[in-house]
Amino acid sequence: MEPPRTRVAFHDLQPRAASFLDDVLAGLTAPQKTLSPKYFYDGRGCELFEAICDLPEYYPTRTEMAMMRTHAHEMAGRLGDDCMLIEYGCGSGHKTRVLITQLRPSAYVPIDIAGGQLKASALRLADEFPQLNIIAVCADYSRPLRLPEIESMRARRRVIYFPGSTIGNFTLPEAGQFLRNVCALAGAGGAMLVGVDLKKDPAVLHAAYNDARGVTAEFNLNLLRRINRELGADFDVSAFRHQAFYNAEIGRIEMHLESLAAQRVTLAGRQFDFHRGETIHTENSYKYSVDEFRQLARASGFEPQAVWTDPQQLFAVHYLAAPQA
Ligand code: AVJ
Repeated sequence: MEPPRTRVAFHDLQPRAASFLDDVLAGLTAPQKTLSPKYFYDGRGCELFEAICDLPEYYPTRTEMAMMRTHAHEMAGRLGDDCMLIEYGCGSGHKTRVLITQLRPSAYVPIDIAGGQLKASALRLADEFPQLNIIAVCADYSRPLRLPEIESMRARRRVIYFPGSTIGNFTLPEAGQFLRNVCALAGAGGAMLVGVDLKKDPAVLHAAYNDARGVTAEFNLNLLRRINRELGADFDVSAFRHQAFYNAEIGRIEMHLESLAAQRVTLAGRQFDFHRGETIHTENSYKYSVDEFRQLARASGFEPQAVWTDPQQLFAVHYLAAPQA
């Protein structure tokens, strides 16, 4: 028997390696030191994130997955046939599999900044869906995207799939700008399916980002290890501590790395001083009520349509329509 012919194309839009160093230098120079969460996901970071998703305290992944099992059929019905499914951030692909099975899109376009992960997951999907046309694009979707490779491809509508509540990493204005960009990319008659973590009991949120086994702490600290390894910095990782708390006024989880001592770090010939207790802000994870998110989507050019939530009201999946021409 002949093996199924894989239909996978790769395009590397080269999210420049130099920008990692530039971003880290800029982030460590600011009065409140910051590092972008998009840099969590090196090989080890991806592994640690997968481990987080399996933690008993981390409800989002399992909740959204269960919602896909229950509702993907209805979602696909609303989206209709002949969709080009464009996914931002491919991760493990479990939810995507469920959606693809129901939707049977005419093409699947995964976009991710992590090229290795992207290739591996695209090839795995090609194996499982031999009929599926896959165009994998290595790019940083937090910036406006041009996708010349899909301009020439015809489909009845473009659907952007953005699961996992990754949109929570953006501040409110960033999320608004991001949604505008997505709406433009979707084009007339396009749509977006986006997973969003709901506001809830702060104790539940706190536990989800301060797990008992310390996996989230490892995930956070791994960012310093990555900067040491890839950029040649000399962070003493043992002199930093994971910190995560819910900022109720702003409605977000904040993750920081707290310096346990006064110390100096060298990177690219420059020195960065920390006083004891000073933090590097490494992640925001915004939580939105259903109405808050629908308002944001509307203000960003979308027409909010259906929304699905789980019985415990932990998580929401929004179906947003881009206006007709
Ligand atoms: C992948 C951004 C959705 O914000 O919950 C998990 C990342 N950080 N634990 C989140 C994360 C710490 C996650 N997102």
